[in-house]
Amino acid sequence: MTSKKVRIFNIKYSQKDKEVINEYFNQVLEEAFLTNHTFCRKLEAAHNDIYQPYASIACSSATAGLEAVFRYINVKSKAVLVQANTFIATSHAIQAAGGVIVPFDLDDNYVASYKDIQLAYDKCQEDGIEVKAVCVVNISGRGSKDLLDIYDFCNSKGIKLVEDNAQGMLSILKNKPLGTFSDFSIDSFQTTKVVACGEGGMIHAKDKTDFELLKNMIFYGKSKEQPLFFDRVSGNFKLSELNAALALADLERSEPRIKRRREIDEMYNKNVCSIHFRHLDNPEDNLPSNYKTIFIAKNKEIRSLIEKDFKTNGIGMTGYVYKIPINQQPRVISSDKFIQRDLPNTLKFCNTHFTPPNYPELTNEEIEYVSDKLNKFSIK
Ligand SMILES: Cc1ncc(COP(=O)(O)O)c(C=O)c1O
Repeated sequence: MTSKKVRIFNIKYSQKDKEVINEYFNQVLEEAFLTNHTFCRKLEAAHNDIYQPYASIACSSATAGLEAVFRYINVKSKAVLVQANTFIATSHAIQAAGGVIVPFDLDDNYVASYKDIQLAYDKCQEDGIEVKAVCVVNISGRGSKDLLDIYDFCNSKGIKLVEDNAQGMLSILKNKPLGTFSDFSIDSFQTTKVVACGEGGMIHAKDKTDFELLKNMIFYGKSKEQPLFFDRVSGNFKLSELNAALALADLERSEPRIKRRREIDEMYNKNVCSIHFRHLDNPEDNLPSNYKTIFIAKNKEIRSLIEKDFKTNGIGMTGYVYKIPINQQPRVISSDKFIQRDLPNTLKFCNTHFTPPNYPELTNEEIEYVSDKLNKFSIK
């Protein structure tokens, strides 16, 4: 068998990209502030343009941004209803802020279930636990058509809605950017993300007062009235200038790169046809930036066989989104700040989805190779 390698990920910078990055890095070195300065402000300004009228705050990672927001909302000993199909980072942030994790399910399109959010809320009411926030997670830029209703629901109950938009940056829902359907949203610039600088994140706040106060949560919990005093429990969540410069350069080249990710997703959709799995189509009115391409296998066993097939054929299977939901993670279930709930759709998604490579550097030949292997997949 010819073993052709298709890498899991293969980020590349052109000569022109490198020149821009070098110029930005030189400026960082000339200024020598190294953190939370000109390039953080430039990166925030670029985000303000995309996410208006939201105001943006650069931070050291999405995990840090989520923690700053949950600390700011003050979820301590209060319930946070959170989509269970997410990275452990979301639950780390809630737990760091002292919140009680109450997971909710996905709907039949595998996005946040409005119905289950309401059921999770009712459960908290029955158990006498105050709900402070709902956290939806825009997995691979897929957003629920119910997000506006979810926001109205939260508003009517006096709850803050948070979008974990680590995977959703530059995705569109109902002609608006994902990340603008909530009170707070958080992007990630971690290496594999659609805009990347290794480590970094961005918080977006809808309300100007929240924005002003959140800025201090990035800065050790500084007091607004008395700047030499620190009156909130928080941390050092500032972004380094070199990371901000790289994130800015990557944001500036993101349009054609996201276009390519969408093209690749469409190629898989068109090329691949099987009785064993299906391409997961975009939800209604949603144009994801395709952090991932997602397929759904008929069952867990078929998914395992596809994993083996990819390995045999030298194809890197990218990280899942996600294989283990947070309501099965030891750190979460061993905590007394957790309420277990039945989440059938989440379980189904976690057990059956898989994600063939999708990144801008992939060649058409590589996509055809992966598609061909998927089309030839059979159960021996
Ligand atoms: C849904 C989700 N939330 C949060 C994070 C954490 O992002 P960061 O690595 O920037 O802290 C990730 C990263 O993969 C993610 O996928």
